[in-house]
Amino acid sequence: MFFVRGALSRYNNYLIPKPNKFQIRMTSNITTFYDAALKYTKTAGELILEKISHSKNIELKSSEIDLVTETDQQVEKLLIQNLSKDFPDHKFIGEESVAGGSQCNLTDAPTWIIDPIDGTMNFVHTFPHSCISIALFIEKKPQVAIIYNPMLKQLFTALKGQGAYLNGKKIQVSKESDFKKALIMMEFGTSRDPEKMKVVLANQNVLINQVHGLRALGSAALDMAMVALGAAEAYFEFGIHIWDIAAGELIITEAGGVVMDPSGGPIDRFSRRVLAANCREIAEELSKKLVQYQPTPRD
Ligand code: IPD
Repeated sequence: MFFVRGALSRYNNYLIPKPNKFQIRMTSNITTFYDAALKYTKTAGELILEKISHSKNIELKSSEIDLVTETDQQVEKLLIQNLSKDFPDHKFIGEESVAGGSQCNLTDAPTWIIDPIDGTMNFVHTFPHSCISIALFIEKKPQVAIIYNPMLKQLFTALKGQGAYLNGKKIQVSKESDFKKALIMMEFGTSRDPEKMKVVLANQNVLINQVHGLRALGSAALDMAMVALGAAEAYFEFGIHIWDIAAGELIITEAGGVVMDPSGGPIDRFSRRVLAANCREIAEELSKKLVQYQPTPRD
């Protein structure tokens, strides 16, 4: 357990045990990690803003709709180079580094999980819903999370135990628990594999008559940010990767929501499956209704 800024000021009233030296050191480290990540994320955001309205060099990855631009690569390089200069013992899992052959390996070591542009297809089309998604895991647990959409100046942040924020203002998940009144985020993903598409369309058909509405922003991280913000009740997807959901997980749980496997069990971050919701009732009802799918290979 790590004590964080807000908690430290409360131990004086004897309700919270006084943190030991290790915990105090960890607290100030977490703040240092967060401040550095925020600084580099903002610089990277400037780069995205500068590049979004220019023509892009685009390459294909796993399919004709799974794109990477040179800006994705530049942003990832900027973040990894700067963070590894500041914190030489930290490890990295970055979308474009993994695409280039790096290992997708989460150990107990402090590890930054980075999607340099989540919503690359949106970025290519200048559709203003793309973001940098960055999370720091320590001992395999999320401690720091940032989702930043530079086009709309939306900065979602969370530190473990300190709540979730949009542009510095505390956010909370929606209080709705009636499934019929839920707004649900879902995505078509970056593969048109016929088996997977059957499941995506079946789930759309099942859900559309049972909820207030379905939405897709084209960025898994921003979909999750909408759940944290209380603007949507749930999000699910089969086929995401760990870098799409790493920051969203902490931001949602810090905003009071739940993140799990779509089957209802605990999240398996390498399984490429996720279900997030404002509350357990909506999560469980959604889970029961979903046609399940297991993407391969695992991350
Ligand atoms: C993709 C987006 C998309 C989601 C895909 C992701 P990328 O990430 O988040 O909304 O449906 O599953 O892979 O490729 O733009 O970083």
